[in-house]
Amino acid sequence: MADPTASRPEAGELADAGLRLDVDGPVATVTLNRPERRNAMTFAMWRGLARIGESLPEPVRVVVVRGAGPSFSAGIDLSMFERGGAEGGDSFAGAAGDDPADAERRIAELQAGYTWLRRPEIVSIAAVQGHAIGGGFQLALACDLRVIADDARFCMKEAALGLVPDLTGTKPLVDIVGLPRAIELCLTARTVHADEAARLGLAELVVPAAELDGAVRDLAAALLAVHPGAAVATKRLLRQAPHNTLEQQAAAERREQVGRLKELFGSGGAA
Ligand code: CAA
Repeated sequence: MADPTASRPEAGELADAGLRLDVDGPVATVTLNRPERRNAMTFAMWRGLARIGESLPEPVRVVVVRGAGPSFSAGIDLSMFERGGAEGGDSFAGAAGDDPADAERRIAELQAGYTWLRRPEIVSIAAVQGHAIGGGFQLALACDLRVIADDARFCMKEAALGLVPDLTGTKPLVDIVGLPRAIELCLTARTVHADEAARLGLAELVVPAAELDGAVRDLAAALLAVHPGAAVATKRLLRQAPHNTLEQQAAAERREQVGRLKELFGSGGAA
């Protein structure tokens, strides 16, 4: 759940982080908005994503994550590896620090920019055109669904740079493509084009680039057409299914259904 006490980030604060947030009733659109840098990601952008997640207004049921310009995102801003760092002063200089626990805490803050996209209260859709590299690929993986243009290209580049994917991407990648394919993709850092992405299950839908926005709008409308409470309960159920035994999952279905029946018909309802 969003934190009801968290204040909405100002548009200016988000703009400084290379982000834009548009909320239209039940649909929020988060735009990575540094097209001149192919939406390269800084610490400020990841913290901005976390702020959006914390303060998402309650009526929002669908979150679309998109990138401005030709690429979804070129991943981490490579200037953060240079002396002086990226715009806004973000830099990797001393990122590991002397205290590993402190460094891990700082990475956890950045991961928070991704984890909220899995919440049961929302369905998140990544609208991917062009490149989704490294942290950009992981952001697409953090979303529940991926609608991609036929020019989309995914690449988990981290290993080539001496890093690991640490923005919560390894689990959904393995869940979607399986362990051997995930090893192959991450350890070769090769590029996956749209048609292969669809075959691997990395995209629910591939459309011509000019139709991407329309396809995402149609999907959002279809998601909003079902009962809101049932959508939340069903996503909660589906999210836990891979970790549960059949018995545990059957019990979880019963619990959720009793909650649904109570809401729909009052406490005396029965299936
Ligand atoms: N960081 C900083 N600047 C970047 C960038 C990045 N990741 N990607 C692109 N840019 C900049 C370019 O330097 C260029 O700037 P100038 O106009 O000043 O020259 C501008 O954006 C446009 O880039 P291109 O001309 O290269 O655009 P293109 O459309 O021909 O190519 C691209 C796009 C394939 C994404 C290419 O820019 C590219 O390969 N970028 C680097 C990608 C990369 O290696 N990212 C790191 C991923 S690993 C990661 O993300 C780790 C992590 O999270 C932990």
